[in-house]
Amino acid sequence: MAEIGIFVGTVYGNSLLVAEEAQRILSEQGHQSTVFEEPSLQDWQRYDGLYTLIVTSTTGQGDLPDNIRSLFSALQDAGWQPTMRYGLIALGDSSYERFCQAGKQFDALLQEQGASRIGELLTIDATEHPEPEMIAIPWLEAWASSLSD
Ligand SMILES: Cc1cc2nc3c(=O)[nH]c(=O)nc-3n(C[C@H](O)[C@H](O)[C@H](O)COP(=O)(O)O)c2cc1C
Repeated sequence: MAEIGIFVGTVYGNSLLVAEEAQRILSEQGHQSTVFEEPSLQDWQRYDGLYTLIVTSTTGQGDLPDNIRSLFSALQDAGWQPTMRYGLIALGDSSYERFCQAGKQFDALLQEQGASRIGELLTIDATEHPEPEMIAIPWLEAWASSLSD
């Protein structure tokens, strides 16, 4: 059984729906997870050496949703985190110039800090997929089965 912290960045709730699907799939595969809707650095640091899954949309013009912005800033100051393992699902809309920028920014930061990404970054385009869960479910099933205890 792996332990996963699911960190949500959302404006309208789509990312939260995906995070709830993630929790269901992880639980079906025997893992234990917690969803953080107002994530803090302290929540994040609990998962060092375990796993995190970030599910975030992009808002404004390539901006992070308000509810995850303070975590991102705190992480920028937190520095090196080589024992953190994470997965990333980015929701966005390709009709905007900075497609999935918030998720991409998170990925770039964690890579710079030496964290290990498990699986590919999943981008979900609202223009093509009005129901983001449909794209997320197969990715999540594969992601969950790649976690070790
Ligand atoms: C005002 C507004 C601005 C947005 N800006 C972007 C953007 O810059 N880049 C992008 O990829 N998607 C952008 N989107 C699309 C959202 O990320 C997408 O609809 C996503 O599914 C919303 O998920 P949420 O409900 O979790 O916030 C924007 C949507 C709105 C309504």
